[in-house]
Amino acid sequence: MLHTPFYNPAKTYEENFEKGPFGAFSHTKSIVQKFKPTYKFLGFSVNSLFGIPAGPLLNSNYVQAAFNMGFDIICYKTQRSVPFTVNAFPNVLIVETFGKLTIEKTNKPLLGKLINPTKEDFSITNSFGNPSRGPAFWEDDLKKAISYANQGQLLIMSVVGTIKEGFTKEDYYDDFATASEIAKKAGAEAIEVNLSCPNVANEGILCFTPGAVESICRKVKEKIGNIPLIAKIGFFSNEQQELLETVVDKMAPFVQAISAINTIPAPIVDEKGEQALPGPNRLYSGVCGAGIKWAGLDNVTRLVKIREERGYTYEIIGVGGVMKPNDYLDYKKAGADVVMSATGAMWNPFLAQEIKKKTNE
Ligand SMILES: Cc1cc2nc3c(=O)[nH]c(=O)nc-3n(C[C@H](O)[C@H](O)[C@H](O)COP(=O)(O)O)c2cc1C
Repeated sequence: MLHTPFYNPAKTYEENFEKGPFGAFSHTKSIVQKFKPTYKFLGFSVNSLFGIPAGPLLNSNYVQAAFNMGFDIICYKTQRSVPFTVNAFPNVLIVETFGKLTIEKTNKPLLGKLINPTKEDFSITNSFGNPSRGPAFWEDDLKKAISYANQGQLLIMSVVGTIKEGFTKEDYYDDFATASEIAKKAGAEAIEVNLSCPNVANEGILCFTPGAVESICRKVKEKIGNIPLIAKIGFFSNEQQELLETVVDKMAPFVQAISAINTIPAPIVDEKGEQALPGPNRLYSGVCGAGIKWAGLDNVTRLVKIREERGYTYEIIGVGGVMKPNDYLDYKKAGADVVMSATGAMWNPFLAQEIKKKTNE
């Protein structure tokens, strides 16, 4: 069922940051009666294997609400080692994908509108550009967010590097480690590196460059020691199978989990056929929600196979198009250890409760 979204696309990012979360997430009391940490993820005891990936939970107020609504494994929105401004409003549009968003379909423009979704299996585009108020804000806010975890709940901190003037590639990769170190100092129990953001003009999608993946994962792991490291990757098509295997080989020595997938970029236009999101380099924007479920399931299946064939031990977080409890079950069937929902959870704050009911947890 569709509810009031806890992030309101009709308001600016700043307004959501200051006044959100909205709808059922605005009540601060826990609706969870009993905490039963009967599952394991990355060595932590957790109440369930479901949560929210990096993105919709902007700050500790959002984190607190998500924990209280029974989302047990959740991520703080990707942060940087320096302040970074958000892309221009709007940042979230409803996108018509006509069923599965195949890669073929991303060759043609998709219509994006600032409207409410009218059906449960909808898709959106989101384009923020990994904004950050910088560590001066998030270091303390992360400490607060971590303190909101109830028994059997885990907060993952997501970070990304920033290209600063005069930086070499290695300086840029080092910056992932700098941000991770700040997160570690604030008490993060698990850290995710975002190697797949499609919405920052000059940074590119790093997970398709094996050398970058290896360097970043090595540098971060050196800094965070025994804190679990998660790599968030984008969608790899069938033609990219060899590249996916190479990338997994490069990250496997350093990561304890892989999160797949991030959004799939496509050109987004308005009713006049013009670029829908204002500003340079924003014709292409990441699409998520129901239309990409097939792609998330596909990549999870392939990551399971690679793990089996090569004897790796990484855990797999399945992400993409989880809108209903059955979608969670489909990801579990495909072999995901943990499942997360961004778009689905935004419009259904009761999704974790519904999944627990369905699985009798
Ligand atoms: C509002 C919003 C913001 C997002 N921001 C981030 C982010 O900061 N870092 C990240 O790794 N992924 C981000 N994502 C991508 C999600 O984590 C997820 O990979 C993607 O949306 C696919 O899942 P879904 O179909 O359940 O939305 C964001 C997604 C949404 C909807």
